[in-house]
Amino acid sequence: MADYTAPVPVPGRNMGLADPRIEARSKVTGSLLYASDTPVANPAYAYLVTSAVALGTIRGFDLAAAKALPGVIDIFTHENLPKRTDVKFAGEGGYVSNSHDPLGSADVVHDGQIVAVVVAETYEIARDAANRIGVDYAVQTPSATLTSRGTTTDDAAKVAKGWKDKEAGNFARAWEKAAVTVEADYSTPTQHHNPIELFTTTAVWHGDELTLYEPSQFVWNLKNGVARNLDMPVDKVTVVNPFVGGAFGSKGMMTQRTGIIARIAKIVGRPVKLVATRDQSYTIATYRAETSHHIKLGADKNGRLTALSHDGWELTSRNDPYKVGGTEATTQMYAIPDVTSKVRLVRADRNTPGFMRSPPEIPYMFALECAIDELAEKCGIDPVEFRRMNDTQKSPITGERFTSRHLVECFDAGAKAFGWSRRGAVGAMRDGDWLVGWGTAATCYPANTMPATARVRLSPDGHARVQIAAHDVGTGATTIMGQIAAEAFGIPLANVTVEMGDSRLPPGPVAGGSQTTASGGSAVKAACDKVIAKFGNRLPTGDALVAAFKKLNVGVVEEYAEWAPPKSKGGVARLYEGQMSGGAEGEEKPLLAFAYGAEFVEVHVHARTKEIRVPRITGAFAAGRIMNPRTARSQLMGGLIWGISSAIHEATEIDPKRARYVNDNLSEYLIPVNADIRQVEVIMLSETDDQVPMGAKGIGELGNVGTNAAIANAVYHATGKRIRDLPITIDKLIA
Ligand code: MOS
Repeated sequence: MADYTAPVPVPGRNMGLADPRIEARSKVTGSLLYASDTPVANPAYAYLVTSAVALGTIRGFDLAAAKALPGVIDIFTHENLPKRTDVKFAGEGGYVSNSHDPLGSADVVHDGQIVAVVVAETYEIARDAANRIGVDYAVQTPSATLTSRGTTTDDAAKVAKGWKDKEAGNFARAWEKAAVTVEADYSTPTQHHNPIELFTTTAVWHGDELTLYEPSQFVWNLKNGVARNLDMPVDKVTVVNPFVGGAFGSKGMMTQRTGIIARIAKIVGRPVKLVATRDQSYTIATYRAETSHHIKLGADKNGRLTALSHDGWELTSRNDPYKVGGTEATTQMYAIPDVTSKVRLVRADRNTPGFMRSPPEIPYMFALECAIDELAEKCGIDPVEFRRMNDTQKSPITGERFTSRHLVECFDAGAKAFGWSRRGAVGAMRDGDWLVGWGTAATCYPANTMPATARVRLSPDGHARVQIAAHDVGTGATTIMGQIAAEAFGIPLANVTVEMGDSRLPPGPVAGGSQTTASGGSAVKAACDKVIAKFGNRLPTGDALVAAFKKLNVGVVEEYAEWAPPKSKGGVARLYEGQMSGGAEGEEKPLLAFAYGAEFVEVHVHARTKEIRVPRITGAFAAGRIMNPRTARSQLMGGLIWGISSAIHEATEIDPKRARYVNDNLSEYLIPVNADIRQVEVIMLSETDDQVPMGAKGIGELGNVGTNAAIANAVYHATGKRIRDLPITIDKLIA
């Protein structure tokens, strides 16, 4: 029996080595440079002024006091910063995560919009000056959230590019005939990513060439987007960012700040460095918006699911139709023949939301997995057994088989490790003053892929260099790319150098959608295979390798390879344009492939104060080949911890009258500390899937899906109260 709590997990069947991260020492010792740490000559410092209102028009600025401050170089607003080309929204074939150009006009369309940029000799002077700027607004009343007056609602199928609502069979008839039913509303709050590395941009011009040091999950997107914004050739823009200090989706697509800082650097004739503040990061980048769900779930008298209706409402901005759309997962989760679903986008006066770790599945699976628990109880069936009975190996929507699916095996392994068979009745388990509840839920995450390219060099001394503009957002992706080359060449990882996160390298995939290993790894593997082919498909070692190089009469062997998912048309060309999708809409048909998992939690709810604690959590996952059990375990563990956080701690509070974020800081935006997290157990099942690229399904986002539902279900088991609105807080349990 493997020791799942050991710091270095023992690799199971179909797993790679548990190598420590290549950059671990440099991160821990502080020698690793993040983008804004990069030294540049004679920088000027920028500080943002962001709007104090969510909706209105700027009538004018009072800049006199700020300009009078010694050391202030210049102040830029919509009145004096020359306008450049608008870049389209990323979701509509463009590049930016919010298409509103904040300095393009006097309009303010969301709270915390950039309205001015101060440039000064030091950061402190710039900040001081920014605080002396007066802004005169003509204020209008904003619509803050899903339920506010003045919002408008669109069907996602009408406004979100490529979206189709999932349907199968005849839901209305099945619902009519269902013997046992659950009908309920669920909701999830606004959340912000809060990566520890802030949102920074350093822009340096050398003549007509621009270099940007900026944390990015997709450097080729940023390179292309900025070039379009500044009307300059794409090959004159370089983005450098070897490591990202956390992102979770928030650094996925270009924001408006980059073009602004680059234009300002050109005007002032010096490198300009911006490090936006924590509170500004809530509004100049993206976030997870609030959602609500109406679920109808029906079963026959034996507990077989027959009908599902999933209606979702998601908030987005007025200017961009950002869509989450998690019904892709919920409608294909169980053997339910008659399904209907509809996703709607509700437009309010807010900044455009965007990707945040497992964007579709987190809110949508919460609703489904709570409803499943409720229906299982009504049927009088244990929730694990209920899921086993309703498992499927085929999509109820398309009828296709999943490439591999071991959800039931995950439930079995997790239940055994957790001791699920000892679970008592609702409200029956107690530990002194604490009510004890056990809950469970499923997780799933699609095995996404996109085109990727890579270059690999092998030297006669048995050292290799891997180059790919993929990104390490803290996941261990650099190490995984190195391991793939080491394995292909039969050399130790210590002999491999990996270069990533730099747009001078061959483009790799966005570090989003948990697809770096499968996509970027496939390109690295293809380049390695081309190198090996040069040696007649058998790579010698040691002296024989030196001799083989002599025979080829070359100093090194270096190969570039392109990889694209099967059936992708023109995918690599689109990647070079910084686009995520591998082909024109409708041309691609991705594999029906998901990773799955089962999560089990114990909660303690204090009988009188209703304080909630989560003393232990177990997750069992099946995600194809596990490339590195050590980094994989960390990813899954981090996911589980974030899941706990999103269930009982996290929410961004919004002033309903002013549409402004209230707790935009790390002291009032609640996340768990060590004392909140006790025992976290990660079980990685051995799973072989030879249809998915590299045999690997993504794991970066798998861990934290479903955790919120498992906790809500456990809180019910402890207290008899169904809390369907996240986060689960004391006031909701007292009410
Ligand atoms: Mo992740 S939200 O796909 O960067």
